[in-house]
Amino acid sequence: MTGVLYGVGVGPGAPDLMTLRAARLIESAAVVAYPTLAGAASFARAIAADLISPHAREIVMDVPMSVERAPAQAAYDAGAVQIAAALQAGQDVVCLCEGDPFFYGSFMYLFARLSDRYRVEVVPGVTSITACAARAGKPLVARNERLTVLPGPLPEHELRARIAGAESVVIMKVGRHLAKIRAVIADLGLTGMAVYVERATLPDEVVLPLADAPATAPYFSMILLTKGADPWL
Ligand SMILES: C[S@@+](CC[C@H](N)C(=O)[O-])C[C@H]1O[C@@H](n2cnc3c(N)ncnc32)[C@H](O)[C@@H]1O
Repeated sequence: MTGVLYGVGVGPGAPDLMTLRAARLIESAAVVAYPTLAGAASFARAIAADLISPHAREIVMDVPMSVERAPAQAAYDAGAVQIAAALQAGQDVVCLCEGDPFFYGSFMYLFARLSDRYRVEVVPGVTSITACAARAGKPLVARNERLTVLPGPLPEHELRARIAGAESVVIMKVGRHLAKIRAVIADLGLTGMAVYVERATLPDEVVLPLADAPATAPYFSMILLTKGADPWL
């Protein structure tokens, strides 16, 4: 019998925003896997830290930060080999993923490599989008409205075109792209409705009108362009 690979969403940051199913799987895991970015501490592991057994084996995939895909692919290839060996030996593996595994989640790279050979179960998590909207007090969409999700690294002209034609917009992966995104939003005359959220649900969370946001943003930040509650009265 081979083991089961669980792709477990651990939510956006606050450990008590994890699902009961995720917590139960992590607590009982003998093998836990997660990626780290360029040697930095894993955010997903930090969220789940109190639940991980001191006896658990940890498979760490150190993913380098580079524009080229090959180094990251090599890190996931190597991680998949270690995970496959554990599954082959009959052990279940719990792979931690910040937020939800199938929403810009790192788990997708392992799913792509292993789901054709092993049983894989995905445990959904609270996404950063819904967490940021909740913390900012900004409802996202209702009735037949559309929500546009844009990654900050998109080129300026594409961001501008997509925001201009959208209703509610969420911009993820803000980080070092903050100045570019700010300029696009200002050009479109939308700064007044934009909210900046950094490290939502964590003790050092920041929620500010974009106009008052700091000059630099960490990777775990987001900008919401929503109408607020009034249109739904
Ligand atoms: C690779 S994506 C991971 C998304 C995650 N799987 C999810 O379901 O939300 C990373 C981006 O999610 C956003 N993010 C994740 N956690 C966040 C948080 N606590 N506060 C603000 N943004 C967050 C940031 O925009 C960050 O750049």
